[in-house]
Amino acid sequence: MHAYYAARAPYYDAVYLKPERQDDIAFLRRHLPERLQGRDVLEVACGTGYWTQHIAPLARRMVATDGTEEPLEFARLRPGTEAVAFGLADAYELPEELGQFNAAFAGLWLSHVPVQARHAFLRSLHRRLSPGARVLFIDNSTVQLQDFPIEETDAEGNTYQHRPLRDGSVHRVLKNFPTEAELRALIRPVASACTFQSLDNFWWLEYEFNGVIA
Ligand SMILES: C[S@@+](CC[C@H](N)C(=O)[O-])C[C@H]1O[C@@H](n2cnc3c(N)ncnc32)[C@H](O)[C@@H]1O
Repeated sequence: MHAYYAARAPYYDAVYLKPERQDDIAFLRRHLPERLQGRDVLEVACGTGYWTQHIAPLARRMVATDGTEEPLEFARLRPGTEAVAFGLADAYELPEELGQFNAAFAGLWLSHVPVQARHAFLRSLHRRLSPGARVLFIDNSTVQLQDFPIEETDAEGNTYQHRPLRDGSVHRVLKNFPTEAELRALIRPVASACTFQSLDNFWWLEYEFNGVIA
């Protein structure tokens, strides 16, 4: 994952130029900042900061993290993110030094979390959040499979795509497509309210953290 996203960082944003994604992206560019307005936001796996640049101007404070240095170098150059504290952090071990937040965001990240690591990721995230914090995740719908079909499924049910990069290398990337029912079941023990919406190319999920680290 790290080698793949490090090599892809210079042209990662091409995913946001696909014509068929423009309506969903326009909606999310309005919706996400609106839902996170005025909050202290922790972003996980921010990559090149595409969503950071839209959320940061309305957030009270924003810390944006990623596990790979190369995409962060692009994120730091984004206009609108001057007040954002960017930093390297493993999503499964978000350090206490990041501080406490009343909101969190992760874009196109949950799909890369192995099924068996979902609870570990949520525990790591929730340790940084205050009870009542608002959490938003967005991710690809199964339409993305038209670009990269599933090539393998492992014993835990994780699915893998083979993704070529511009240098000719091909990377085996874990990419899951959780259903609404799976997501709701995952979130139920830790959320006091949960909203899910399927768009054409993406889905978004919002919940209120109930303060229970489960
Ligand atoms: C699909 S990209 C999403 C980038 C960005 N959030 C977006 O929506 O455009 C996934 C990101 O996860 C990061 N990543 C991979 N493993 C990670 C980990 N263990 N902790 C934090 N970030 C990680 C990669 O470096 C990459 O930037």
